Amino acid sequence: MGKIRKIGVLTSGGDSPGMNAAIRAVVRTAIYEGREVMGIMCGYQGMIDADFKPLYANSVSDIIQRGGTILKTARCEEFRSPEGRAKAYGNLKGAGIDGVVVIGGDGSFTGARLFNEEYDIPFVGIPGTIDNDIFGTDYTIGYDTALNTVVEAVDKIRDTASAHNRMFFVEVMGAEAGFIALYSGIASGAEAIIIPEIKGEERNLKAMIAGGNTRKKSSNIIIVAEGDEGGGAFAIAESVKEDFKEYDIRVSVLGHLQRGGSPSAIDRVNASRLGHAAVEALIDDQKSVMVGISNGEITLVPFRRAVKLHKDVNRNLIELAKILSV
Ligand code: F6P
Repeated sequence: MGKIRKIGVLTSGGDSPGMNAAIRAVVRTAIYEGREVMGIMCGYQGMIDADFKPLYANSVSDIIQRGGTILKTARCEEFRSPEGRAKAYGNLKGAGIDGVVVIGGDGSFTGARLFNEEYDIPFVGIPGTIDNDIFGTDYTIGYDTALNTVVEAVDKIRDTASAHNRMFFVEVMGAEAGFIALYSGIASGAEAIIIPEIKGEERNLKAMIAGGNTRKKSSNIIIVAEGDEGGGAFAIAESVKEDFKEYDIRVSVLGHLQRGGSPSAIDRVNASRLGHAAVEALIDDQKSVMVGISNGEITLVPFRRAVKLHKDVNRNLIELAKILSV
């Protein structure tokens, strides 16, 4: 049977649609492999508080289609300290947990990496964040659903923008990265897309926005990534309003609705693949690695690389968005 007999699973950081599908895959794969599973509640906080609950095949029935996470999630300050991690280790040992699957983003993997440098209980990560900003994987759980949510919302904004001949600045999530903004901008036919990855000479807000204005359009949609250096949609709208006096300008910040909802089919399938792969990786004695999907295949990426290296957006898509917005 090997040394991994009982597997802990937790979700950490911002929730994302498809986390439940990943939990289900972890639990059912572990049971298929003859292992036990413990749910760790509220991310790393549950490790520190010994908030564990056994999970069985039927504990994860009827959750594949649900957003959020049945294990709850949190960003845990205490786990950042050596004392917090020592407490967590003691509790994991006490509960007989031999390996842990962490579903979360880069902050969660940073904690996991530190823990694996200090202690002998292996951690394997699954990328779960709507931001899609993790190096070493083409895909993170929840990104596809969030993207579709944003596109649906922008389509609705387009209706009212056209009816009033308005220019809308729509702010979307993505933390420090522009993946959601770039892809949703292309998918919704935005006139301009403002993302943190556009810097220096490339970056001239007036020209970027005017680029989609070579003919008078009945509506203008400018997608703004929340992490952009311009300071968000309200600030950017304010800074260019004198240059676009002919437009009645409005701002819409989509906010947390981007994180909720039933996961898309793609998110469910990929979360299922990643959950299965994470358990297999633990059984194969892997530690301190993330399972990812690159070119359609499952890959293993050391946490060290996943958290340190920067994942860039596809620059050709920035160009494409410009060409198509004339
Ligand atoms: O990382 C996911 C994310 O939704 C980001 O896109 C956003 O910046 C952040 O989390 C919001 O976090 P909170 O839920 O703490 O407001």
